[in-house]
Amino acid sequence: MTNPAGSPQHFLPASAYGSAATAQQERERYAPRFWHPVTTVDALPSGHGLALEIQGLPVLLTLSGDTPTAFINRCPHRGVALLAANSQAQACRRLVCPYHGWTYNLQGELLAAARENDFLAPFDRRQWPLQPLACRVLANLIWVAIGADPLPLEHQLDLVLEEAGDLLHQPRVLLARQSLRLACNWKIAHDNTLDDYHVAIAHPTTLHREQGPVRHYRHALSRHGSLLATPYPSGGEFLTFGLAPWTHLLFWPDGRMAVISFPPLDLQHCRMEVWLLGDPSLRSGAEAWLQEVLRFLEEDRQLVESAQIGYASGLVPGPPHRLEQRLLQHQALYAELMGFSAPELQP
Ligand code: FES
Ligand SMILES: [Fe+2]
Repeated sequence: MTNPAGSPQHFLPASAYGSAATAQQERERYAPRFWHPVTTVDALPSGHGLALEIQGLPVLLTLSGDTPTAFINRCPHRGVALLAANSQAQACRRLVCPYHGWTYNLQGELLAAARENDFLAPFDRRQWPLQPLACRVLANLIWVAIGADPLPLEHQLDLVLEEAGDLLHQPRVLLARQSLRLACNWKIAHDNTLDDYHVAIAHPTTLHREQGPVRHYRHALSRHGSLLATPYPSGGEFLTFGLAPWTHLLFWPDGRMAVISFPPLDLQHCRMEVWLLGDPSLRSGAEAWLQEVLRFLEEDRQLVESAQIGYASGLVPGPPHRLEQRLLQHQALYAELMGFSAPELQP
């Protein structure tokens, strides 16, 4: 396995997992560099809006025609959300602010303001559009960037574009989703999902059965991502991509796909988001598939919540194993973007 990111030979020190200053820096320097998968394409029908939140930023997605648009979900007049956050997209022809009634089209242009002739200064609607955010569609997902200068999405997904081939472009719909709060720093949960050293030990009857014997593991690393590919019993490979900022994309050779991500909540908590996608004909088996995935994720939950206590108690992390290279790759990218100098990476 190559090591293009120049991964260090040590894990990040425990201090990086428990410092409020580091968490603040993650919000300023790390999260804004990346694209965040916010929903699946099929969850936003044309003529609909969907309100959600990315790292505390209120976001509004709309679709009129084919291309989704993202805005900050914030009326430029006095800051109120145009649409209330909801797990479902809502049908809307116009966006009407519930505070003073400013009305926008789904492209974010102001169409009308109440009592428009009575503003204290001359009023020009064209000066008050909703603030757009970069938004793309790729691999059945809608991606939004919250920073002014994100990496090109193709760079963030470099390894996926290189390795997933036709699997990337299959038609899929959202079949099931689950969201859980984990009592650990997001990096402990992300590390764990990049960790190929633990699977045979910690998931002997669940994930290990899916990924098969360790001797058949194939790894690949790129500047922004990592891959574990394992032969699938019925042919092809099961692909597990680890991606910044805290995202994993899993592809089964039969066309199924999963998104697992760990957005931070606070220093000691993150959310675990699981989305399962596949052909619409798989709907009847979706609940069973979700339960199967949740079985190994529950095994992981117990481990990461335990590791959180260990890290918080003053751990000096031990030596990395060859099967923890994906984890080191991510930590090196993280440290680089965070501006950590080399000594800070030493235990
Ligand atoms: S805050 Fe939206 S119209 Fe006033
Ligand atoms: Fe695991």
